[in-house]
Amino acid sequence: RPGLAHSATAVAHPNIALIKYWGKSDERLFLPRTDSLSMTLDIFPTTTRVRLAPEAGQDTVTFNGRPATGEAERRIIAFLELVRERAGRAERADVDTENTVPTGAGLASSASGFAALAVAAAAAYGLELDAAGLSRLARRGSGSASRSIFGDFAVWHAGRTDGTPEEADLSSYAEPVRTAPLDPALVIAVVNAGPKEVSSRTAMRRTMDTSPLFEPWALSSKGDLADMRAALGRGDLPAVGEIAERNALGMHATMLAARPAVRYLSPATLTVLDSVLALRRDGVPAYATMDAGPNVKVLCRRADADRVAETVRAAAPGGAVHIAGPGPGARLLAEDG
Ligand code: PMV
Repeated sequence: RPGLAHSATAVAHPNIALIKYWGKSDERLFLPRTDSLSMTLDIFPTTTRVRLAPEAGQDTVTFNGRPATGEAERRIIAFLELVRERAGRAERADVDTENTVPTGAGLASSASGFAALAVAAAAAYGLELDAAGLSRLARRGSGSASRSIFGDFAVWHAGRTDGTPEEADLSSYAEPVRTAPLDPALVIAVVNAGPKEVSSRTAMRRTMDTSPLFEPWALSSKGDLADMRAALGRGDLPAVGEIAERNALGMHATMLAARPAVRYLSPATLTVLDSVLALRRDGVPAYATMDAGPNVKVLCRRADADRVAETVRAAAPGGAVHIAGPGPGARLLAEDG
């Protein structure tokens, strides 16, 4: 059968949003309330092999050499079900995934994880998809994974809201964003490596349901995206950073105003944010963004990355600091049939 591989291996990298995805308009289809825009990183790849197991009665999932359990296993199996349904196939599979994010680095791995899984599973089951199709598929595992299909900068469209759920689904995928030369780095300050207390899924739902600040943020995020595209188009790193920082702080404001409040930012987060302000006062263009956790990602010029890393390391002693540049999109490494 053409297109079908018995085994396929793919690699994908995490991405950090500069315009955030926060809130779903459809939880089943993973349709976001707003458009978002991110940079894919060149560190911490996830490599995933999907091998068809026609004799097996169930899927098996191995994560860093150990059987996956609980929610992680459930989400991966649900994703395989979706791929099988689309491909019209029934064989179970063995999924083997290696994540290079240092254990407990406090960085989400769902984006690289589901992007790699989407590419590998589509190849193994013979689903022929273009990049937009892979992005739509990855979205169903984790929203942010839709953006990790692409390298460098990518925008994820919220999709149509005026039609059927199928039309919305078809129109919600990521695509590359052209930028003028920017030479950016993201300095990642890990201030707390522990697991998060509230999942992003729960926090998003609560924010949309109860926060009086959610709709105003969603509206202003539209303007932020337009400004961001313009800033990227002219290679204006300080403007890119300023827009990213305000968009992230606004997202966290929506959560702080939820009932009950969701607060991911810790005292150490604020100490790092102060050090970023100090860098700016010293003339270094450096801007912060935070996701569903206390860690801080600082956008700066590549040439300033070492200095920025030193500064945030001093502000949050004990925590690891990583420097990332723009990375590649998800790709198939090997296929054998
Ligand atoms: O990882 P997900 O798909 O559950 O979404 C997390 C969303 C944020 O990381 C907080 C923001 C973003 O756009 O990545």
